[in-house]
Amino acid sequence: DIPSLAESYADYFPIGAAIEPYQMTGLHADMLKKHMNWLVAENAMKPASLQPREGEFQWEQADRMVQFARENKMELRFHTLVWHNQTPDWFFLDAEGKPMENETDPVKREANKKLLLERLDTHVRTIVERYKDDIRSWDVVNEVIEPADPDGMRASLWYKLTGTEYIETAFRAAREAGGSDIKLYINDYGTDDPVKRDRLAELVTELLDKGVPVDGVGHQTHISIHWPTVDSIIESMRKFHELGLDNLVTELDMSLYAWNDRSDFGEDIPEEILQKQADRYGELFEAFRSNQELLSGVVLWGIADDHTWLSSFPVTRTEAPLLFDELLQAKPAFWAVVDPL
Ligand code: XIL
Repeated sequence: DIPSLAESYADYFPIGAAIEPYQMTGLHADMLKKHMNWLVAENAMKPASLQPREGEFQWEQADRMVQFARENKMELRFHTLVWHNQTPDWFFLDAEGKPMENETDPVKREANKKLLLERLDTHVRTIVERYKDDIRSWDVVNEVIEPADPDGMRASLWYKLTGTEYIETAFRAAREAGGSDIKLYINDYGTDDPVKRDRLAELVTELLDKGVPVDGVGHQTHISIHWPTVDSIIESMRKFHELGLDNLVTELDMSLYAWNDRSDFGEDIPEEILQKQADRYGELFEAFRSNQELLSGVVLWGIADDHTWLSSFPVTRTEAPLLFDELLQAKPAFWAVVDPL
């Protein structure tokens, strides 16, 4: 019998996994109960899942996760109130059903902006009010920084139609609805990149100066066995820590491939690749442990290699980014994370 991941880390920080509803039963549920003390919905709490049509909230799957977490004394995180993906079109249609983006009349554009921010406000408040007693840690906005876009802000419909007001609205509404016991995060990937990191820090500083309630930064940490350096990940956390913010690792996984590489190991992943992955995972968790004052949790984006979004992103191929293999067995990476303890 192998040690429990979460119990091994009890003196350091909680460890969690992203799950789909089917994983709350059978072998996956057993693994969650043994190895994790946090959970997050991989898709079930995104805007398209919770409010597919205006005013018609679909709570069933999300409620089941809340129930599962409660029964098993696990903490659930919320992902995500706002995003540019997996968000239904109705948010961005004007009162006549036309895309707000196409409006050229400045008066009507202003009215559309108001309508969009009202819809956002309703979305956020409705969800936070429902789950505020069960969920403490919330991704309020996801992936709003994009250094390649004008002003370093992702040119999503949210940004094109409201500027950064959507971010303010979402955080303020979440705080008002949830009170100060819930923790509000701005979540993004590639936060180790100095340019992106600094733009994010600049945005967060501006928000805090305006009294917008941001509690922490969620670092997705979708990394690969080749990049980035562990130092750059820790350095970024230190930067936000110095700004008075909490850090969370929210979506950790480790691709076997380099970023621009589109090759495929197929059936046989080379032994040395899995060993390299283990070494990197070991190095990363060692850095998390020795800098534990910088972060308050680590969530993996999945349980085991039998189910990972990376097997279809950015291309369809064999991927094995997690600590357990496709038969749910502990990989070298698992032992690299647990053995030093
Ligand atoms: C991914 C899910 O894992 C997939 O199942 C879904 O098809 C697309 O979204 N960054 C995020 C997550 O913030 O919400 C994404 O999740 C992965 C990248």
